[in-house]
Amino acid sequence: FVHQLADEAVSIPALLASPLRAAAPSTLPLPRRLYGESRVNALGVDPVVERERAPLLARLAVPMPAAPTDDSAASAALAMDALHRAQPGWNAVPLAERCAVLRRAADLMERQMTELVALLAQEGRKTFGDGVAEVREAIDFCRYYAEQAEARLAPQALPGPTGEKNELCLHGRGVFVCISPWNFPLAIFAGQVVAALVAGNTVAAKPAEQTPRSARRCVELLIEAGLPADAIRLVCGPGETVGAALVAHPRCAGVCFTGSTQVAKIIQRQLAMGDGPIVPLIAETGGLNAMIVDSSALPEQVVDAVVQSAFRSAGQRCSALRLLLVHEGVADKVSEMIAGAMAELVCGDPADAARGWSVDVGPVIDAEAHAGLSAQVARLEREARLVARTAMDARFAATHIAPVAFELKSVGEMKQEIFGPVLHIVRWTGPVDAVIDQVNALGYGLTLGIHTRIDQRAERIAERARVGNVYVNRNMIGAVVGVQPFGGEGLSGTGPKAGGPHYLYRFCGEQTVTVNT
Ligand code: SER
Repeated sequence: FVHQLADEAVSIPALLASPLRAAAPSTLPLPRRLYGESRVNALGVDPVVERERAPLLARLAVPMPAAPTDDSAASAALAMDALHRAQPGWNAVPLAERCAVLRRAADLMERQMTELVALLAQEGRKTFGDGVAEVREAIDFCRYYAEQAEARLAPQALPGPTGEKNELCLHGRGVFVCISPWNFPLAIFAGQVVAALVAGNTVAAKPAEQTPRSARRCVELLIEAGLPADAIRLVCGPGETVGAALVAHPRCAGVCFTGSTQVAKIIQRQLAMGDGPIVPLIAETGGLNAMIVDSSALPEQVVDAVVQSAFRSAGQRCSALRLLLVHEGVADKVSEMIAGAMAELVCGDPADAARGWSVDVGPVIDAEAHAGLSAQVARLEREARLVARTAMDARFAATHIAPVAFELKSVGEMKQEIFGPVLHIVRWTGPVDAVIDQVNALGYGLTLGIHTRIDQRAERIAERARVGNVYVNRNMIGAVVGVQPFGGEGLSGTGPKAGGPHYLYRFCGEQTVTVNT
C-alpha cells in the first residue's frame, strides 16, 4: 500500500502528516437480501415515494393531457413583441411582490407533488425517486431565488462626497429567452424562468420538444401564484425554427440556455450576428466528467458513488460520471465490485403501475436518443473491453439502454459525451497531476469526483482541476440549490452557477443614479 502511494508521488513524511480519513458510512447497493423486504431497489427509495405510492399509481392510470401545440416562428415573434410591451409593468411590480409570487408557486408545487411526479414519470420517463428529487429542486429554486432577490436586488446606497447621493439600482433587462432541456423538464425550466422573472424580466420560455407538458404545468402554477399572465409566454416547438426565432428577435435582451455545447455555440453565433443590442448568454452545457480514485480510497464508497453517478437517471444528467480513473493498484477490485453492484440495478418502466415503484433505471428519453446510444455502445463493444452490463428484460430492448461499463486503454480514447448509462474506466499509475492534466485537456469542466483518504491529495486535485463542481468521497450528481451552486466552465458553460449567489445578477441591468443634492 505504501509502495503504491510512493508510486503516486506522495512522499512518506507528507503521508504521515496527513492521516487517512476514517471510513464514512456507506450506502453501498449490496445484494437486496441484506436489506430485507423494505429495500426494493438498489438506488434507494425516497420516503415520499413509499408514502405516495397508491396516489401515484392512480395518477399513472390516467393518460397524460394533450401536449401544447407547436408555435411557428411567426407566433414566436409575436410573443416577443407582447412580452416586450408587458416588461415595464412587471418590472415596476415591487420586488417583495415578485418574490412572493415565487414563494406561492413553491407552495403550490409542494402541494402538487404527487401530480408533478406522475407527470415527470409519464412525460419525462423519470423514476419516482428522480421525480420527487426534481420537484424538490424546482421548489428550492423558487424559494432560493426569492430569498436571493430580496437580499441582493434592492437599490443600494453607495458612499460619495458630501452633497452627492449615489445609488445602484438593478432592473430587468427586458425579454429573457429561456431554453430548457428534457432531462430536468420541471426543475431546470422553473429555475431559469423564475430567476429571470424575479429580476424583473418578462420571459419567453421554450421547453424541450419532448417535455412541453411539464413546462406548461409550471407556467400554470406560476400564474395561479399571482404572476401576471402577460409576463410569461410558453413557446413550444423545434429549436431550429422556434428557438432560433426567439433568439434572433430584436427584442431578445438575454438568453438562458441549458443543453448541448453544440447548440450553445449556435446560439452564441446567432446572438453575435444580430443587428440589435449586445445580448448576454447564460449557457449550461455538458461534461466529460471524471472521477479520480487513488489507492487509499474506500472501495465500497467508490462503488456506491460510481453507480449513483453513472447510472442514476439512466445517466441522463449533465453532471453524470462518464470517465472513472482508477489507480492500477485497486482497479481490479473496484471493477469487480462495480460489476457486482451493477447486477443489482433494476431496469424497468417507471410508469408501470405494477412494478414502476421499484425501478432504478428507466427508459432513455426517446427513440432518437436510444438509437444514438445504441450506436455508441456498439462502437465501444468493438473498441473497448466490456467490464459489466446490467441484465435487462428483452421487452425493454427498444426503449432502455442497460447500464454498461467499458475499460479503455487511455483517456485519449474518450470521444465525446455519451448522454446515457455508459461508463468508461481507465487505469492510471504515476503522478496524479498527469491524470488531472489529461482530464483538463478534454476541454469540458463541469463535475469531478475524487476518492482518496489523503486530504492533501484531494486538495491538490481540486486546485489543479478546471471544473465547476468538485465532489470528494461521495457521488457527483444532484447538486442542491443554495448548497452546491452548479455549473461549469470551458465547453461546459459560461456560468454563473445555477442555485448560487451570483446567478440573479446576470439577469439584471444596472443603473447608477448620482444626484447633486
Ligand atoms: N444539477 C444536476 C445535478 O447536479 C444536473 O443537471 O445532477
